[in-house]
Amino acid sequence: MVKLINYMKKGLADAPSNPILKFSDYASKIPDVVKFTLGEPDFNTPDHIKEAAKKSIDDNHSHYAPSNGTMGLRTAASQFLAKKYGQKYDPATEVLVTNGVTESIFDAEMACLNPGDVIIVPTPVFSLYMTDETVIGTGVKIVEIDTSADDFKLTPAKLQKALDEYGDKVRMLIMNYPSNPTGAMYSQEELDALADVVRDKPIFVICDEIYSELNYDQPHASMEKSLHDQVILMNGVSKSWAMTGYRIGIVCAPKDILEQIAKVHQAVNTTEPTPMQDAAEEAFKNGMDDALPMKAEFLKRRDVLYNGLTKIGFECVKPDGAFYIFAKIPDGLEQDDEKFIYELVDKARVAVTAGSCFAKGGKGWIRFSYAVSMETINEGLKRLEKFVKENKK
Ligand SMILES: Cc1ncc(COP(=O)(O)O)c(C=O)c1O
Repeated sequence: MVKLINYMKKGLADAPSNPILKFSDYASKIPDVVKFTLGEPDFNTPDHIKEAAKKSIDDNHSHYAPSNGTMGLRTAASQFLAKKYGQKYDPATEVLVTNGVTESIFDAEMACLNPGDVIIVPTPVFSLYMTDETVIGTGVKIVEIDTSADDFKLTPAKLQKALDEYGDKVRMLIMNYPSNPTGAMYSQEELDALADVVRDKPIFVICDEIYSELNYDQPHASMEKSLHDQVILMNGVSKSWAMTGYRIGIVCAPKDILEQIAKVHQAVNTTEPTPMQDAAEEAFKNGMDDALPMKAEFLKRRDVLYNGLTKIGFECVKPDGAFYIFAKIPDGLEQDDEKFIYELVDKARVAVTAGSCFAKGGKGWIRFSYAVSMETINEGLKRLEKFVKENKK
């Protein structure tokens, strides 16, 4: 019999399965485990949005929506971005609705990149941005810039150095702020300075702003402000409205670029579920400030977790946004983060995510998500303190 597996996409068999999911399965089997691994808000979707989804179904919105998304959702998203962040996109031609930002990333990369192109990725970074070379196999090269020595922010000097090294091959820069996994956020001045480095070069900049409503210490800043024509902006309802399961993301870009991205979307997804689009429209239109109570709660948790971890001996950069803390494994403990997380969950029943899941810049670090209750945080800190005392050499 022919072994068909041998004829599948080259390199795919050697590509790792998502280690976060593998560890999550392992940790879930441990009784009474305290989990700091969740990558989504632990809040319910606001009621008015749920009602909009139900009404949409009752009104028989059961047909294919336009491929780029319902005009209602595109208009609501465009108005939200303009009102809240001053980002201006024409809903008729410059906004595309996707299956979460996950699909936005895929569509944009498939539309913009050719084999041999270089993507510059400041790391640690959300793991999806590292799958292109292996899983998707676009023939692109990922060049990582480790930001761990710079408070997890890309600096203009390091960006310039990468451009000098890779020259014309550089076609894309990935920016995600506030960041998963570090919670780092840039000031507008910092983003403007980075924009200056790539301005007028043939480089697309993906700005993944999915955590834009979860900025703690400053109003949201954006590279779109200073580099509109080169930016492919991504946002969505997953994090700001606790709607990860609704699967709605938004891509915004200048018309000619968006048209090409939309062709990839047409090929892979046709359109998103109409009731979910109606629900997302309600979020953008009538839920402008829905994230505020969630943000206030996250802020309290951030402080408790940050102070607790620091006291126990973890070095961490205080996050400015999102709901993650990136912490360095203290000296005297297992320094291989991929081994450390298994030791920690086995001995202390505390689950965290290995920093290496977020590329090389995360080696030796671990990610805590504080999308969990205050009781969970306090219990987790107690267990961690005991673990460190008993295991530190
Ligand atoms: C930085 C970042 N971008 C994109 C996504 C994917 O979001 P979505 O649920 O819209 O696909 C996530 C989810 O964790 C994320 O952290």
